[in-house]
Amino acid sequence: MSRPASSPTASLILRPESWVDPLPLLQIFPRQQPLEVELGSGDGSFLAAWAAQYPDRDFLGVERLLGRLRKLDRKACRQGLTNLRLLRIEASYLLNYLLPAASVSTLHLYFPDPWPKRKHRKNRLVNADFPSAAARVLVPGGVVHLRTDDEDYFAQMRAMFGSASGFAETETPVSLTSVITDFERGFNAKGIVTRRASYTSMIGPPPGSGPPERGGPFPRCTEIRA
Ligand SMILES: C[S@@+](CC[C@H](N)C(=O)[O-])C[C@H]1O[C@@H](n2cnc3c(N)ncnc32)[C@H](O)[C@@H]1O
Repeated sequence: MSRPASSPTASLILRPESWVDPLPLLQIFPRQQPLEVELGSGDGSFLAAWAAQYPDRDFLGVERLLGRLRKLDRKACRQGLTNLRLLRIEASYLLNYLLPAASVSTLHLYFPDPWPKRKHRKNRLVNADFPSAAARVLVPGGVVHLRTDDEDYFAQMRAMFGSASGFAETETPVSLTSVITDFERGFNAKGIVTRRASYTSMIGPPPGSGPPERGGPFPRCTEIRA
């Protein structure tokens, strides 16, 4: 069973018992509300504000830098948020291995590291593999919301989702764009143009056939023989 990190003070940071098995979402979020995940949540201004607006949804903030995660942890604890948990992990590992299939209603990815040098672009989170990893974890009709200040990365994001089967580009709701992130605030202050795009997953059973249960089957690794 996963639990928030034990420390003298309350914390929302999870320490899963297993780092290779799918997260036990029913234990982490027993209310079984729609789950939204932010990848690379940074200091978490967006997620803390967004989670406060929607107590009828659950939220998981994922960040690889512990200092930033702890800052968000303190902020969310001060706010008394009960629908948010945090995890220090590399985002693509979470997508590919820790999130159960068809368990997430919304993926937020805001101002991911742009890796502007050509030789470093292979490090970008939104690469050719990202749409299929997102499609696996999203429920049918689930949405990926993206924002960036990097024109080249934005073109790459659009190309990746444009060529991926099973996604349709959709409008980003104004209610969402009005909640800005830490980095976005900095870009806005400097007059730097930012871009956004949203993609809805069309994969899964047709509407009316009922939502999949959270924590659906997780694909098994092919058995490795010596
Ligand atoms: C440019 S900051 C943006 C933070 C926040 N989304 C915002 O808009 O204010 C990117 C954040 O993503 C985190 N990050 C970058 N790559 C990551 C990865 N592969 N997995 C998890 N976090 C990552 C970084 O540590 C950093 O906090």
